[in-house]
Amino acid sequence: MPVAIKLGPHFSSMGEVALRLDEAGADALVLFNRLLQPDIDAESLSVEPALGLSSPVDGLAPRTWIALLRGRIRGALAGTGGVEDGGDLAKYLLAGADVVMSASALLRHGPAHAATLLEQLESWMARKGFAAVGDIRGLLAVPPGTDEEAYERAGYVNALRAANVGAYTAW
Ligand SMILES: Cc1cc2nc3c(=O)[nH]c(=O)nc-3n(C[C@H](O)[C@H](O)[C@H](O)COP(=O)(O)O)c2cc1C
Repeated sequence: MPVAIKLGPHFSSMGEVALRLDEAGADALVLFNRLLQPDIDAESLSVEPALGLSSPVDGLAPRTWIALLRGRIRGALAGTGGVEDGGDLAKYLLAGADVVMSASALLRHGPAHAATLLEQLESWMARKGFAAVGDIRGLLAVPPGTDEEAYERAGYVNALRAANVGAYTAW
């Protein structure tokens, strides 16, 4: 029976946890589960059971880890979090996801949105000249053999340089 393990994002060493689960025989990792986080209403002194649907920014952390794990683990990688449109789907595939999941967008727009996601992906692929999903998958993953720490540092340095000239991204 294939076993897929859905992980939360809060391990202190995510890469190590992922590698160990893979070594232990997990057939797939699903990145990332979201904790439903109720809020506290300080006026009524009550706990608000927030449903907390996601937004596209929630795709950043899982995509970062999928891009890092692609080619470094044997099992499959599933991406979940922040898939609102076909562009988000494309980003997960570019990072290296084998499959991509969507929950919040389907709750927000209804089950027919699944077909919209696929149509938007197809039109993006046609616009970019990609014939098959396999041509996209992992195109922007971090290549195995890369010095990951240097890669991460370079990312920070670029982000700081961009922020210094006011070109930072506002979510
Ligand atoms: C109302 C709701 C219920 C959920 N129930 C589960 C669950 O039972 N098991 C699970 O693994 N994830 C559950 N999730 C998490 C989703 O499967 C998904 O991983 C997460 O919402 C991130 O994807 P999204 O941004 O597309 O919503 C639930 C999410 C929502 C919004």
